[in-house]
Amino acid sequence: MKIINIVGARPQFIKYFPISRAIIRMNAENPTSINDILIHTGQHYDYLMSKVFFDEFGIPAPHYHLEVGSGPHGRQTGEIMAKVEEVLEKEKPQLTVVYGDTNSTLGGALAAAKLHLPVAHVEAGLRSYNKYMPEEINRILTDQLSTLLFCPSLAAIQNLQKEGFANIFNAGSLVPVEPSQEMFTDLGIINKNQPLIINNGDIMYDVLLFAVQAAARRATVLSRLQLPAGAYAILTLHRAENTDNIRRFDEIIDFVNGVAQKYPVVFPVHPRTQKMYGQAKNRFSSRVEMIEPLGYFDMVTLLQQAALVMTDSGGLQKEAYWLKVPCITLRDETEWVETVASGWNVLYKDYQGRHYPKTAAEPAYGDGRAAMRIVQIISHLARNLT
Ligand code: UD1
Repeated sequence: MKIINIVGARPQFIKYFPISRAIIRMNAENPTSINDILIHTGQHYDYLMSKVFFDEFGIPAPHYHLEVGSGPHGRQTGEIMAKVEEVLEKEKPQLTVVYGDTNSTLGGALAAAKLHLPVAHVEAGLRSYNKYMPEEINRILTDQLSTLLFCPSLAAIQNLQKEGFANIFNAGSLVPVEPSQEMFTDLGIINKNQPLIINNGDIMYDVLLFAVQAAARRATVLSRLQLPAGAYAILTLHRAENTDNIRRFDEIIDFVNGVAQKYPVVFPVHPRTQKMYGQAKNRFSSRVEMIEPLGYFDMVTLLQQAALVMTDSGGLQKEAYWLKVPCITLRDETEWVETVASGWNVLYKDYQGRHYPKTAAEPAYGDGRAAMRIVQIISHLARNLT
């Protein structure tokens, strides 16, 4: 079976890693299983936003690099669509896999859907219910274009049900890591008009469990930055809704400066933020240390020793939850509602200087074996997809 994986932005290189690893493992047992072709759209191109992750995780170089680069949404998404289309026409894959909610996700999904090719969306069903976010538009449309909807949680499945999606595999329960062939016999042909919803758990948990092991040997960040273990905070900030709105940006700087009175803050700065904040950066307290973006192993190590994290990233909210680090989300809403319900995450407008009591809730995002489930299901369904 030939599949095309499409990545382009930082979190997608990270999400693709466990899929690539699971395919390599499956092919070791059955060499003809999956022919995995990788497209890098080039949405992210700086070494620290892209290649560093291929190097750290040992991901094979992409077969196609489209070098789309930065630009306004329409141009960036349109260029991705046009260039992906050329590759799809040449390769004729049985399935195109897209990840998350970026312009690379939507551009890739649109190109495939218009060629009548099946699309699998990894991280389907997430909603902020705020259509002023580019990511929300990308998610909704990508789900609408997909044949397989791989969901990280029950809440994601419920979001899809509210939108009328009804074909739910295994009654919405986490599927077995090695599902039996019988589970698929009644499914018949699956198409875009009745996409299949699957609860496979969160692929980012697979990555985190791997990285915690590897980071202990390979990360150098703590000695480089000389931080007091357990007594510093981390800040990350890159969402357009925060960086492109000066009033909002100012409000967040005041909030962070308040926290900095208690903890020194380390702030790996995303290129978007670097570009947008101009003079505003002088308003950060001297206890906020700005550094370049970090590789994944350094980020995980930094997080493990932190007292607190402040972020508008989706991935970091869950990593903080899994590693039991209190998190303040610098947004008005979050897609990762389970992290808030657990008490480990709080929206900054609700933060009253301390965290809520933590609950001993059931783990919300599976067991760290999401990628193997996805790859198994894809190979079982190879002939059922149109
Ligand atoms: C994108 C995603 C966002 C995701 C984020 C992860 C969309 C709409 N947004 O946001 O959902 O959370 O990636 O990082 O797809 N730039 C560089 N070097 C790079 C990459 C970007 O300098 O390697 C600069 C460019 O000048 C660009 C700006 O950062 O204008 C924004 O990049 P872009 O890809 O448009 O979106 P992100 O803000 O990174």
